[in-house]
Amino acid sequence: MSVPFLDAARGLQPERTPIWIMRQAGRYLPEYRKIREDVDFLTLTQTPELAAEVTLQPIRRFGMDGAILFSDIMTPLEGMGIPIEFQGGPVLPEPIRSAADVQRMHALEPDEGVPFVLETVRRCVAELPHEVPLIGFCGAPFTLFCYLVEGRGTKDFVQARAFLRSEAAAARDLLDRLADGMATYLEAQAKAGARALMIFDSWIGLLSGEQFGELVRPALDRMVERLRPLDVPLIYFPNQGAHLLPWVKGLDVDVIGCDWRRPLSWADEDLEGRYTLQGNLDPSTLFAPPEVLDAEVDKVLEEGRRLSRSHIFNLGHGIDRRTNPGQVARVVERVHAAPVSAVGARS
Ligand code: CP3
Repeated sequence: MSVPFLDAARGLQPERTPIWIMRQAGRYLPEYRKIREDVDFLTLTQTPELAAEVTLQPIRRFGMDGAILFSDIMTPLEGMGIPIEFQGGPVLPEPIRSAADVQRMHALEPDEGVPFVLETVRRCVAELPHEVPLIGFCGAPFTLFCYLVEGRGTKDFVQARAFLRSEAAAARDLLDRLADGMATYLEAQAKAGARALMIFDSWIGLLSGEQFGELVRPALDRMVERLRPLDVPLIYFPNQGAHLLPWVKGLDVDVIGCDWRRPLSWADEDLEGRYTLQGNLDPSTLFAPPEVLDAEVDKVLEEGRRLSRSHIFNLGHGIDRRTNPGQVARVVERVHAAPVSAVGARS
C-alpha cells in the first residue's frame, strides 16, 4: 500500500501531495488543552500514554499524512547530564559557559536516558494506520548549542554565537558531542518504529554561510553519516536559512524543510533539484479569510508542482497557538484534493 509521505520523501510519485504541520500537536487544539489542564508540559512529554495520545490527536481530527512524535528538542539532554526546566520555553539552570562545562555532558544511553520517548514511539506506531508514518525528531547540534550556552531562548543568542569564537575548540567539541548524542537518539527512535527522522535547526539562520560551512556542516555530516544505514528518510530544516542553502547543498538527507520567506522553487534552484522540499505556507495565513487562505495554499501547491523532486506540504514554521482548527481542516482538504504533477516530468 502506498504511503504518500514516504513516497514523496524518497522522490517517488505520491498518489497525493502529503501534508503535516509543524507543532500540529499542541495548544491550538482544545483536546490538547484539556489534557494540559491536569499535567505540565514536562510530565506530558515523559508519560508515554499521554504523549502518544496527543501525538495522535491531530491525525484523528484532520487526517494528516505524517504524525510527529510529541516531545521537545531539549528532552534528550537530561539523559546527557544537563538538567532542563520549562518556563514557557526551555530554561537551563546551569548553562554551558566554558570548556570545563562542556565536559559535564556525557553520551546518551537511550534505554536509560529516554526510555519514555521510545515507549511513546512504540505506542504511536501500534495505533497509527500503515499510511501514516511516525516522524521522529531531534534538535540540530547548533540549535541545541544555542540553548545550552545561552541558558534560555533569546532573539539573537549573542552569548552562544560569541562562544563559537571565544572558545572555538570547546564549541567544536560541544557540537560534536551533540551530533553524536542526537544520532544515537534518532537511531533509537527509528529502531522503536519511527519511519522518518527530522532534524530541527530553528536558530541556524543566525549564522553566516562561512560559519555554517566551517563549524556546523561537519557536525551535521557526522550525524547523517551515522543515520544513513537505517534506510529511513531524513529531513533537515534550516529555519530562516535561505542564505545557507549553498552550504547545505550536498548534505546527505532526502528532504529540506523551507520557511516561508522565499518561494520553494528558489530553494530548489539553490539546491540543484536534489531534494524533496517540505513547506512553506506562512503560519499567519491561517488567520486570513478562507478565500485568501485558499489562494495562498494554491500558490504553495503550484510552487510544489514546479519542483524537480517531490513536495511535502507544511507550514514554514510551527503553527500559532491562537489558530482556529477549522482553518487547518480547510488546508488539509484542499491539499488532498489538489492534483499532483508527475515526478520526473516537471517543467
Ligand atoms: O507537534 C509537534 O511539532 C511535536 C512536538 C514538538 C514540540 N516542540 C512540543 C512543544 C516539537 C517537534 C518541538 C520542537 C522544538 N522545541 C523546537 C524546534 C521547532 C521550532 O519551533 O523551531 C524548539 C526550538 C523547541 C524549544 C521550545 N519548546 C520552545 C521555544 C518552546 C516554547 C515556545 C512554545 O511554542 O511554547 C517549547 C515548548 C513546547 N514544545 C510546547 C510544545 C507543544 C508548548 C508547551 C505547552 O505549554 O503545552
